[in-house]
Amino acid sequence: MGRVQGKVALVTGAASGIGLSTAHLLAKEGAKVVLADFNVEGANEAAQQIRDAGGDAVGMFLDASVESSIKEAVDFTVKQYGTITVLFNNVGLTNLKKDLDVVNMDLEEWDKLMNVNVKSVLLGSRFAIPHMIEAGGGSIINTASMAGFEADAVRSAYGASKAAVVNLTRYIATQYGKDNIRCNGVAPGLILTPAAKNNLPPAILDIFSKYNALPYHGEADDIGYTVLFLASDESKFITGQTIQVEGGHYIANPTVPDFRALQAQANKA
Ligand SMILES: NC(=O)c1ccc[n+]([C@@H]2O[C@H](COP(=O)([O-])OP(=O)(O)OC[C@H]3O[C@@H](n4cnc5c(N)ncnc54)[C@H](O)[C@@H]3O)[C@@H](O)[C@H]2O)c1
Repeated sequence: MGRVQGKVALVTGAASGIGLSTAHLLAKEGAKVVLADFNVEGANEAAQQIRDAGGDAVGMFLDASVESSIKEAVDFTVKQYGTITVLFNNVGLTNLKKDLDVVNMDLEEWDKLMNVNVKSVLLGSRFAIPHMIEAGGGSIINTASMAGFEADAVRSAYGASKAAVVNLTRYIATQYGKDNIRCNGVAPGLILTPAAKNNLPPAILDIFSKYNALPYHGEADDIGYTVLFLASDESKFITGQTIQVEGGHYIANPTVPDFRALQAQANKA
């Protein structure tokens, strides 16, 4: 018996990276999965791979910036599989060119990120919750980010949007807990999804390596397994939490590397 046997999951942003990994893991552990993505070819291809491996999945188009499209994804899931008991609100955008510091950021980008990163979580949940109540319960999981817990020199809108996801997660958990609906988040640190692997120069990866407590970078499956756990009944007493999956990057006093260097210098003298 799979860890999420008999559950019906809608995964948004499922054609790549974290969503793709999660869709595969949920299906492997017995869930029926709808893979929804702007990249509908990618979603269909991934669903086919899941079916070829003996799982039950179907792909569909989703534009998470459009309310009616989110409703369609939830409605399609219910039509296809009879209910929805797991919702992974995973789509999120970032823009390093336009989402800058507070004085210089593009305000249209602020609105776009708030709409896609926060409002899509609200809407996905709003449309899925009545079905989950009818089904006797469910699990909603939202992709936040460590950027929602820490500040940065740029990406102010992204960080603010992900902080909003962290607290919206608590609100949903509070409001629908008595309906047996749990809502949790996952906050990835740097995860080497294909996009990140292709775009990040080695110098940037070296900075992450320097501050990670662990000697390696995160991969999509590290988040996928966390979401699988939160989707399963193994996590039945966990709600309103956002689990930080970040290789220990943010756990220590930030001055540790400097003090280590000072100590090394003193040892040499
Ligand atoms: N990769 C990281 O290091 C990292 C770190 C922290 C948080 N995150 C968060 O993880 C989530 C997934 O990121 P990823 O790294 O897997 O990205 P990714 O680029 O690998 O995949 C994102 C998927 O979302 C789809 N998508 C984009 N806009 C969409 C829209 N409007 N409607 C429907 N689908 C859309 C894309 O087509 C793509 O398939 C995001 O919320 C992101 O903010 C990622």
